[in-house]
Amino acid sequence: MKFFLDTANLKEIQEAVELGVLDGVTTNPSLMAKEGIKGTDAVMSHYKQICEIVDGDVSAEVIATDFEGMIREGEALAELHPNIVVKVPMIKEGVKAIRYFSDKGIKTNCTLIFSAGQALLAAKAGATYVSPFVGRLDDIGHDGLQLVQQIVDIFSNYGYPTQVLAASVRHVPHLLQCAELGADVVTCPLSVIMGLLNHPLTDKGLATFLADHKKVNA
Ligand code: E4P
Repeated sequence: MKFFLDTANLKEIQEAVELGVLDGVTTNPSLMAKEGIKGTDAVMSHYKQICEIVDGDVSAEVIATDFEGMIREGEALAELHPNIVVKVPMIKEGVKAIRYFSDKGIKTNCTLIFSAGQALLAAKAGATYVSPFVGRLDDIGHDGLQLVQQIVDIFSNYGYPTQVLAASVRHVPHLLQCAELGADVVTCPLSVIMGLLNHPLTDKGLATFLADHKKVNA
C-alpha cells in the first residue's frame, strides 16, 4: 500500500520523507490556499518544490472546468516535473480530459469521487488513480469505506490498472480499514501517519527496558 501525504505544507512533506515511508503527495486548491500560495507562478513553483522533496507522484489539480482549459492547465502542470499527476474533477469535461491525458501518456488522478459509477467511468477513461473521498461521505452519514470496497471489487473483477486512492482519510482506523479492503493508496494528513506509531504498551515497555538497563549499567 502506498502512503501519500494530503498537504501542500513543505515541512510536513519533508518530515514524512525523513521517516522513510512517503510514496507521494496529493494537493488540492484548498490545501494550496491554506499555505497562502496564490498566483500561477507561485503555485507552479510550489509544485516544483514539492516534487524536489518527494520521490513519487504529486497530484496537482486543474482549476478550469472546461475541456480546453483543463488540457491547457494539465499540460503546463505535467511539463513541470515527470512526477506530476494531473488531478481532474469528476465532471463530464473532466472525463474527456482524462481520456485525452491518458492517450498522451500523462498521469491523472480523478478527484471528488463519491460513487462507484463515477469511479468506473474514470477507469474507463484511463485514469491512473481514482480518489473516493471517505471522510466526506462519512460526514453526511454515508459509508465511505463501503465505497472503497465497491471500487476495489469492481476494478479487480476486470483487472483495471486504475489505482484506488482512498482520499479524505481522517484517522488511523480509516487508514487501516482501507488497507484491509485493498486500496492501492491512502492519502491523509501527517498526523494520521504519525498516529500509526502510537501504542501505550510500546511506551511502557520501552520505559521498563531503559530503566532495567540503567539499573545494571549505572
Ligand atoms: C484528496 O486528494 C483531497 O485532497 C482530500 O483527501 C480531501 O480531504 P478532506 O475531506 O479532509 O478535505
